[in-house]
Amino acid sequence: MTERGLDRTLPGGMVIAPSILAADYARLGAEVAEAEDAGAEWFQLDVMDGHFVPNLTIGLPVLESLRAVSDSFLDVHLMIDNPGEFLEPFAEAGADMLTVHQEVSAHLHGDLHRIRELGCYAGVALNPATPAETLSEVLGYVDLVLVMTVNPGFGGQKFIAEAVPKISTVLRMAADRGLPPPAIQVDGGIDPASAPECAAAGASVFVAGSSVFRWAPGIAANMAALRDALAPYG
Ligand code: DX5
Repeated sequence: MTERGLDRTLPGGMVIAPSILAADYARLGAEVAEAEDAGAEWFQLDVMDGHFVPNLTIGLPVLESLRAVSDSFLDVHLMIDNPGEFLEPFAEAGADMLTVHQEVSAHLHGDLHRIRELGCYAGVALNPATPAETLSEVLGYVDLVLVMTVNPGFGGQKFIAEAVPKISTVLRMAADRGLPPPAIQVDGGIDPASAPECAAAGASVFVAGSSVFRWAPGIAANMAALRDALAPYG
């Protein structure tokens, strides 16, 4: 159980969540602080195991280090096989949210309940080929649905616009079941050009890696450009 627990309020409104996958790891703390100075209060940490996705990235030490220096909302996106085996260590390391992939969570219902028992918000991610309907039995147990707008594994990929209608499908499924709407997060190729159509469809959390940390003219201006693009949506 992290000292945060579920009493920590999910940042509201249109949230830009820089993905540290695109950050410079020789300056990670400084770049996170720069993004916080530019208004970021939610970061996504992309954990990849080289099995579920064809890339190997970060793990517990990076989360522990960031938790020690940042009070931002830390959202851990587990792109790993058997995510149920790692929920406790990531919660203990300071995650505020744990997001598992529907495609590899053999016991998704149990994983989502376990995430909340550990004091974290529960997220479930859908790859572009995975229908929203696969969540029909668990929508009552998620705080957030991550609609992937790329095939996971790497930053800097092209936005997959065909994934956008899935946003409204998930929201309609929740409404049809009389459930509160989960936060809808989009991730992959999110920038000032692609974010608006996701917002119009109902997304409220925008994971942006390259368009925050990699693009000229820099983090503060990139955050401002995303905020401006999302301003008409609340
Ligand atoms: C999926 C990763 C990326 C990353 C953001 O593999 O989850 O989507 O967070 O990448 P950009 O914003 O550079 O497309």
